Amino acid sequence: MTVDLRSDTFTRPTDAMRKAMAEAEVGDDVYGEDPTVLELQRRVAAMFGKEDALFTPTGSMANVLAVASLVRPGQEVLCEASAHIARAELGAHGALTGLTMRTWRDQRGQIDQPAIESMFAPDMGPFFVRTTAVSVENTHNFAGGAVLPVAELDRLRSWATSVGVGVHLDGARIWNAPVATGVPLASYGACADVLSVCLSKGLGAPVGSLVVGSSETMAEARVRRKRMGGGMRQVGILAAAGLHALDHHVERMADDHEHARLLAEACGIDRKTVETNIVVVPCEDAQGFVSGARKGGVLVSPVGPTAVRMVTHLGVCRQDAEAAAGVVSRL
Ligand SMILES: Cc1ncc(COP(=O)(O)O)c(C=O)c1O
Repeated sequence: MTVDLRSDTFTRPTDAMRKAMAEAEVGDDVYGEDPTVLELQRRVAAMFGKEDALFTPTGSMANVLAVASLVRPGQEVLCEASAHIARAELGAHGALTGLTMRTWRDQRGQIDQPAIESMFAPDMGPFFVRTTAVSVENTHNFAGGAVLPVAELDRLRSWATSVGVGVHLDGARIWNAPVATGVPLASYGACADVLSVCLSKGLGAPVGSLVVGSSETMAEARVRRKRMGGGMRQVGILAAAGLHALDHHVERMADDHEHARLLAEACGIDRKTVETNIVVVPCEDAQGFVSGARKGGVLVSPVGPTAVRMVTHLGVCRQDAEAAAGVVSRL
């Protein structure tokens, strides 16, 4: 037995998803002529109450395109210190957009409104870096799948609009949030100017993300995507996986959340602190934990010297979760 809890990116397409991919109607998407991609873009835009969306190969590319729509070279984006855009995109935003970042720190990845307001730098001419965007992550990966409350997001957006700053939401795992909270996707959409969302995490598609926002922003993002080498051809074959996932893999995430709570309890963590499908476990020796778990057939990842992360997904059934809980409880 191997239970792979390293990430929800380890899912494999189901037989039904592969069938949907094989049967997809396709066209040349660089010409905007792939009907399946167009359907996916329309559907995802509508889910978030936005005008349009743009398919990208990865969440990282979607994030770069989304943030670049709000921040020009020499300007800055503010984000939480463990945000994916700051910690795990290997400097893409600085290298490709020429922007800088400043961060606030919150253990649960939450919005620190007073910190954001105190960091905000208005336009002061060609002497200082100007803040033109705030980026938030929902759910928050390295903060253990934490959900950002919609009231806090609303407050951020109102303030941002009042000072002329855009809001980007990294929604790689936004799909988990409504399952956990009952708040509709459109309410999260209303809190941001532009979002990036992934099909290849908990939704279980093999590849694919989207930028979501206004028609004008998508037209600009389409040009940048091509410049980055992200113009793809008969990519409806991948969009079909995303459409299939939206039909079949959203509600089942409630099981992932329950499995994550089970794993948390096995590690002595209060189940109420686990909101979605990620559990971060503090431990003395992360590498020791990882290799101990591996011996028991459970794969987990270190997220620093004294913490490991376990992520549940559609490749982990109840029986797997219970078996894994037995192994990690001994560690
Ligand atoms: C919160 C978050 N944003 C963006 C990404 C980037 O996605 P990708 O790996 O498709 O580039 C990830 C990947 O895990 C993520 O967790």
